[in-house]
Amino acid sequence: MKLIFLGPPGAGKGTLAVRAVEIVGCPHISTGAIFREAIAAQSALGLKVKAIIDAGKLVDDDTTIELVKERLAQADAQKGYILDGFPRTIPQAQALAQFSVVEKVVNFDIPDSGVLERLGGRRVCRKCGYNFHTVFNKPKVADVCDHCGGEVYTRDDDRPEAVQKRLEVYRAQTAPLIDFYRQQGILVDIDASPMVDEIVVSFKRVLGL
Ligand code: AP5
Ligand code: MG
Repeated sequence: MKLIFLGPPGAGKGTLAVRAVEIVGCPHISTGAIFREAIAAQSALGLKVKAIIDAGKLVDDDTTIELVKERLAQADAQKGYILDGFPRTIPQAQALAQFSVVEKVVNFDIPDSGVLERLGGRRVCRKCGYNFHTVFNKPKVADVCDHCGGEVYTRDDDRPEAVQKRLEVYRAQTAPLIDFYRQQGILVDIDASPMVDEIVVSFKRVLGL
């Protein structure tokens, strides 16, 4: 299936995607994760985007579109994908339509209070990117990833100033995509506030799986 996960920062897109990969059997492609890997590797892309991401702003459309176009051309994405964090602007959505036909857009519905609670406690594995939380999903051993043994840290863009900026950017530039895809008749809404097991059930239901 060719899916988009759309929703505000901290809605739980990445967390559900880890579960959804097993259900739909397609790769999880997170533009944010690709940028974070580039930053960690100190590649040309990483050096270009680090300050932008840390400030909670968006990377430019051309760079992001090219990156996704190349990623979707790879063999594992031919039968489907879960796009998490892309598109994030109307021009990105228009560009995507030129090189891939999206089947469904899953819109994560959650109030700002839920977002702030989730981002305020998020801890991430530096090695495999798994998302933990200081209250909802603690690693078994403090600061060590349960899955790969990597170091668990707090993302630079989860500082309060950057979170506020990301929410503003979401409202101004990304939320218009809800109507864009609703008008195309491919948008489905899920309540993203419950715990993840419950969201998995909603996910299967809205997609008829
Ligand atoms: P990106 O990594 O995509 O960040 P984001 O959209 O801000 O989303 P998050 O990863 O913060 O949230 P999430 O919804 O995945 O939540 P998570 O599952 O972690 O992008 C980062 C940056 O890269 C952007 O700001 C931008 O600069 C740049 N970028 C990326 N894509 C771009 C694009 N297309 N164009 C331009 N720039 C782009 O969950 C959050 C926390 O809550 C975790 O701690 C988790 O454990 C917990 N949690 C999750 N679900 C639940 C649940 N059901 N119950 C309880 N706790 C939960
Ligand atoms: Mg994420």
